[in-house]
Amino acid sequence: MASFIYLIILLLVIDLMISKEPVESKQENFDYLILVNKEYKIPDDYLSKADLIVVHNFLREEKNHTIENMTYQHFCELKNNLQEEENITIELDSVYRTVQRQQEIWDKYVRDEGIDYARKYVAQPGYSEHHTGLAVDICLRINGTIVDNNTDMIAQKEIFSKIHAKLPDYGFILRFLKGKEDVTGYNYEPWHLRFVTKEYSKNITEKNITLEEFLGKLPKKKENRDNYINYSYSLFYAFILFILI
Ligand code: DAL
Ligand code: ZN
Repeated sequence: MASFIYLIILLLVIDLMISKEPVESKQENFDYLILVNKEYKIPDDYLSKADLIVVHNFLREEKNHTIENMTYQHFCELKNNLQEEENITIELDSVYRTVQRQQEIWDKYVRDEGIDYARKYVAQPGYSEHHTGLAVDICLRINGTIVDNNTDMIAQKEIFSKIHAKLPDYGFILRFLKGKEDVTGYNYEPWHLRFVTKEYSKNITEKNITLEEFLGKLPKKKENRDNYINYSYSLFYAFILFILI
């Protein structure tokens, strides 16, 4: 009888050891689909619900990163896979941000690049997805050199298309899509990933839709859809031209 029980235990242990699809141990009752954008502010009680952890910052040794726990586990898997299968090195650049940090970034961009550029690439304090810890800005390490400038990263089309192809398998979506600027209110950002869990990442990516469209929460105000404003200006100028000619 004892040997039979040992055999059962042994079989159970072997079964557990056989590699299986990793189970996503998500935080219960936590909304991984939370929408924070130009119209939806980070809720005041958000930090009491989120499982944020502090991790090493490989770019700036003196500063740690703060990030949501599951987001970090999945980022590490994505990073390892890209290294092994594509020889692409990605690093965490910017993850969780306090409202104060977002204010500093906003001020810097307004000062250095102007308000029009800032509106297309930087959220106002309180309205950034980075306040959730679920957003991940990555940068590239190419031949040992860090590539983290917006323009330089946008130019790395081939590398980013390989990275983007893997996102849904690790629970991430690309948040600011090309051609969806009038929905997200932001320009294309190949570096800004958003963790939504594997339960949703494949579905959202296959449909080529934004989180706003998936949740049925399109922006209501015209000023939150930059392209709409651009189109209206173009139409206005075309009209003036028509009158003058
Ligand atoms: N770059 C994105 C829009 C942010 O600042 O949250
Ligand atoms: Zn970002």
